Amino acid sequence: MGLLDHKVGIVTGGGAGIGRATALLFAREGAKVTVAERDPRAGQDVVAEIAAQGGDAIFVHTDVSLPGDVEAMVERTLAEFGGLDCVSNNAAAGGGYTRTADLDERTWDQTMAVTLKGVWLCMRAEIRAMLQSGGGSIVNIGSVSGMKGEAFLSAYSAAKGGVISLSKTAAAEYAEQGIRINVVCPGGIATDGMTDYLKRAPEVRDRTVNAHAMKRLGTPEEIAEAVTWLCSDRSSFTTGHVMVVDGGSLVKSHAI
Ligand SMILES: NC(=O)c1ccc[n+]([C@@H]2O[C@H](COP(=O)([O-])OP(=O)(O)OC[C@H]3O[C@@H](n4cnc5c(N)ncnc54)[C@H](O)[C@@H]3O)[C@@H](O)[C@H]2O)c1
Repeated sequence: MGLLDHKVGIVTGGGAGIGRATALLFAREGAKVTVAERDPRAGQDVVAEIAAQGGDAIFVHTDVSLPGDVEAMVERTLAEFGGLDCVSNNAAAGGGYTRTADLDERTWDQTMAVTLKGVWLCMRAEIRAMLQSGGGSIVNIGSVSGMKGEAFLSAYSAAKGGVISLSKTAAAEYAEQGIRINVVCPGGIATDGMTDYLKRAPEVRDRTVNAHAMKRLGTPEEIAEAVTWLCSDRSSFTTGHVMVVDGGSLVKSHAI
């Protein structure tokens, strides 16, 4: 028995990092999965990995900042698998590393378009589908940066803070219709992008690792576990919740 047996799921940004780990775990736990991804090669590779493990998945070329792509992502899922039960809205844009007054407008707009508006566009299409079928579970990926504020990441932090408020609002609106909406906020996760970056900047690496009480980064799989539980019926009374999965980065590991 898998946690997601007989369910149909979507993972946005499912071609790499946390999204890839989530798509693979969804499939291992029994779900049929749409890998919605902007990068066709990455998306198709994950679909092939799932198929090689005996799972069922499709790739849908999606840029979550484009309403037409997002509508097509949900329509294709319904047409292919006959429903939609669980989602991880995971795709995001990083947003430049600079102080607030030095950030350019284009970077701000692009970050908001993918990281905040993209989540809203996805939720809008997913909720409409779930209302037709009687419910479902949506897990949006936030960040600890959206909870505490993060120097040099103003657009990203603001967008992730918005994801949290948006998710709580929608959770209140659709709870009676059987749609649960939760957020997972990761701390630093050792995705390929993060690992490459930290290799090039060893001084940042030590600071980043030491910012976590566990003195290590998390793995994409550790985030996927939380998302999958929230997507499953095992979390049936949980909605509007912000689950922090951060190796203790929000708790102080030292006295002042
Ligand atoms: N890695 C971390 O340390 C960390 C920490 C906190 C939160 N997060 C959040 O976790 C999520 C996943 O991050 P990750 O580190 O695994 O990212 P990643 O860069 O490893 O992978 C992101 C995937 O999303 C795809 N993507 C990017 N823009 C897209 C778009 N507009 N439409 C569709 N797909 C798109 C990329 O092609 C890529 O495959 C993000 O929401 C991120 O903000 C990550």
